[in-house]
This record gives sequence, structure tokens and C-alpha cells, in this order.
Amino acid sequence: MLFRQVYDYIRIRMKRGEWHEHDKLPSVRLLAMELNVNRLTVFKAYQLLKQEGLVYVKEKSGYYVSPEHLNNREAAYQGGALKHASAPDIRNKLSDIHRVEASNQFSKALIDPGLLPNLFLSDYVKRVFDLYPKLMGTYSTAQGDEELRTVLAAYLNQQFYTDCHASELIITTGAQQAIDLITRMWIRPMDAILVERPTYSAALDVFRAQGARLIPVEFAPEGYDMEQVELLMKEHRPRFFYLNPTFHNPTGYTLPADQRKQLLELAEAYQCLLIEDDSFHDIYFDQRPPRPLYAYDTSGWTIYIRSFCKYVAPGLRICAVVGSQDIINSLIKAKSLADNGTPLVTQKIFLHYFQSTRMQQHLEKLRIALQIRKDVMEEELRQSGLPWTWASPNGGLNLWIQLPEGLSAQRLLEEALRQSLTFVPGAICDPLDQIEDHIRLSYSFMNEASIRIGIRVLAQVASDILDREQM
Ligand SMILES: Cc1ncc(COP(=O)(O)O)c(C=O)c1O
Repeated sequence: MLFRQVYDYIRIRMKRGEWHEHDKLPSVRLLAMELNVNRLTVFKAYQLLKQEGLVYVKEKSGYYVSPEHLNNREAAYQGGALKHASAPDIRNKLSDIHRVEASNQFSKALIDPGLLPNLFLSDYVKRVFDLYPKLMGTYSTAQGDEELRTVLAAYLNQQFYTDCHASELIITTGAQQAIDLITRMWIRPMDAILVERPTYSAALDVFRAQGARLIPVEFAPEGYDMEQVELLMKEHRPRFFYLNPTFHNPTGYTLPADQRKQLLELAEAYQCLLIEDDSFHDIYFDQRPPRPLYAYDTSGWTIYIRSFCKYVAPGLRICAVVGSQDIINSLIKAKSLADNGTPLVTQKIFLHYFQSTRMQQHLEKLRIALQIRKDVMEEELRQSGLPWTWASPNGGLNLWIQLPEGLSAQRLLEEALRQSLTFVPGAICDPLDQIEDHIRLSYSFMNEASIRIGIRVLAQVASDILDREQM
């Protein structure tokens, strides 16, 4: 699939008008060197472009931009799409699915607003405005409110026995912004990134938009194949490994502590940053998960992303990013270019709510409520009589379900949408776009009664497809 990424790289540059009609394109050898890939990979990409009429070959000379490609551009201009024609084609597949209105909502890995202490939160809003009357008239610094950073650094230090200082922490608007800023700072087109397979799909979309080369690392219930990880680091020299090792989205798996330590050794040996996305750390059921990788890191190779959006107050979009001072200084620059700082109002509201005892009580209740919802979903799946399989997670918001044999996720989604039911099909969580036999079901957004109804609808849709296919 690597040749597809080279193909996209050339096609996007042609579309942006970097090469014109009958321009000679870089030779296979040159491009392979520039992109640090095999010549055969570039050759295959050129062959595909040729098949599609976007480039043509001159004997003994090389590849040239075909005028047909420009005709497509002109057609776009005539349609009044000049501005859009030159913008790269990017998308966020997950939010495309979330936009679908459905009464059986299994695609959103969000906490049911009914489980959040909304009235209590609104009390805090008033209190914060009384405390800081000039709040609305003040910018935050790009790094984030110092009071909040100090509280969050102390919280993480106490939780993980670390020694992080407020200056080594930056506040971002959700983990999504952190992923985006890190990618902008560290990735240039065709840089290699290791990503879990499957993984959080909106991170994949950010990496693709930046033109990165995605190298998959399979994530199984027992973790990664560490020999494979080392081989991939050796071969591709990735700029970073983006990982979500605790109650992973979409699978719910957790990387064991020994692999966390090994990974840090590899990161240092191959100079590969570890981007640890830890959005679900506190959403455990029976047992606390292992400490995050960054807590074992003594040489500064991790960037730790700790979002509080999922369970504290999603509307406030507060996330802490922790790293070495150099890393944080780079991120402050990226953050100031992006938005000059997360709004101070939301940071202060979060700060005061986060420190309240009510917040701790909320978290304890939330864990119980989510575990009950997970149990209900699993019970309904088992009772449906269909051979779904999954590894029951110890935390997080999702089940990663292997479908009964012969059932494709895409087909199931098409039919489920007609019954007003959504879920996330495996392929969009796959850096290779291929997983057709898995789906992600979130149990966090709907209440128990709705989960029961929804899973029955889903099972009926699945049985109908299987029956029709056997006829
Ligand atoms: C693994 C992972 N990272 C990041 C995000 C984005 O989180 P935030 O709401 O903090 O931007 C999500 C949201 O679902 C996620 O699952």
C-alpha cells in the first residue's frame, strides 16, 4: 500500500499546480531517494498515474504531466471551484459518520450527557466569573493558564510519581488539537509515522493531510509484536510512533507494562518520538491500568497527551500535553500560530471544577455507570445468538467486534443506517483501509434500555443479511 501514498503525494502536488502540462516529473530514482522508499514503489505509483491518464511516458526520457490532468483542473475552475480546486483533499471520516442522525447511536465514543453533572457545572460558571471579573477581557498565554498548568502538573505527578513542572506542560483545545500541532511541527510530506492497526481514525486523517507515510503496527489483546516494532523502526526510521496504549480506541486493549518499558528503550535507540495519547486513562472498571509510558521515560522521547474532554466536561475541550522543555517550546510556537491560546474562560472553569470533591465523586459514579452499560451491551450481543467475538475491555468506551463470518462491515452499515443505527466500520480505523470484518460499538452514549433495543436491531439486520446471502 506504500505505493498508494507515493501516488497520492504526486497527484496532490499536480492538483495544486506545482507541475504544469507536459512538465517532466522527477525520475523514479530521484523520487525514491527523496522519499526514502524503494524504486519499485515509485515505479508502481507512476504506473497507476499512467493508467489513469494523469501522466504519460516518453521513451528513454521519463514521465510527464498529461494535459488531461489540466483539463480536469480547468473543469473545476469553470465550475466556480477555483479556491477549492487548489486545496488538498482532506477529510475527517469519523465526523462524517457522526453527522448522520440516528436513533441507535453506537458510533459516538462520547459520554452520554445524562451522566455528566451539568447543573453542578453551571454553578461553577457563575462562581468563576465572580472570582475573576475581568475574565472575558483577558487572553490566555499560548501555553495556557499558569494556575491550571500547576494544578495539572501536580495531579499527574501525584498519580504517576513523576516530576513534571508546569513549564513542561501546555494546554490544548482537546487531544485532537494536540495531535494536529504535533504533526505540523514534526512531520513533512512522506515522513514515516508508526501507527497502531487499528487506531483512532481522526488521527490517521491528520497524518494523511500532512502527507505522512503510515506504517502499521498490529495491536492484539496481548500488545504489539515488539520484534516487529524494532524492525519497523530500523527500516523506516519513523519520526514518531502515535499510540493509544491504555483502553485503546477502537479495541479497548491495554499495552502491558513490560512492553511500555521496552518501547522506551527502542524509542531512544532509534530516535523515534512516542506520541502517547491517553484519553481514557481514568475510565477503568476494576483495576487501574499500568502507568503511562511517559512516567517511565527518563530520556525525553515521549509526548504525553492527556485529554480531559471525555469524562470531565467535553464542552470545555481541555487537554494537557507533557514533554521535555524543548518539545513544549516547539508546541507553544505551533499553538500560537494556530489560535494564540485556549480561551481563558474555559480553562478557569475547568480548573475550579476539576479540583472539587464533586468531580472525584462524579468519576467514581461514571466508572460504575459505564461498566454497567458495557455489561448490558455484551449480554445482548451474547443473547443475539450470532457468533460475534470480542475481547472484553477493562476500561474505555468501546467494544471492537469481529463480525460473524461472511458479513462485511460496509454492508452491515448500509443496511443498519436504514434502521437508523450507526457504528464505526473497521476500515476507517485502519491505516491500510482494509479491515472489513470488524466494527466499533460505543456503549457510552446510549442508556441501558436503548443499548438493548439497538443491539437487537443490529442483530436483526445482521441475521437478515446472512440469511439472504445463504439463499
Ligand atoms: C484516542 C483518541 N484521541 C483523541 C481523541 C480526541 O479527543 P478530544 O475530544 O480531547 O479532542 C479521541 C476522541 O474520541 C480519541 O478517541
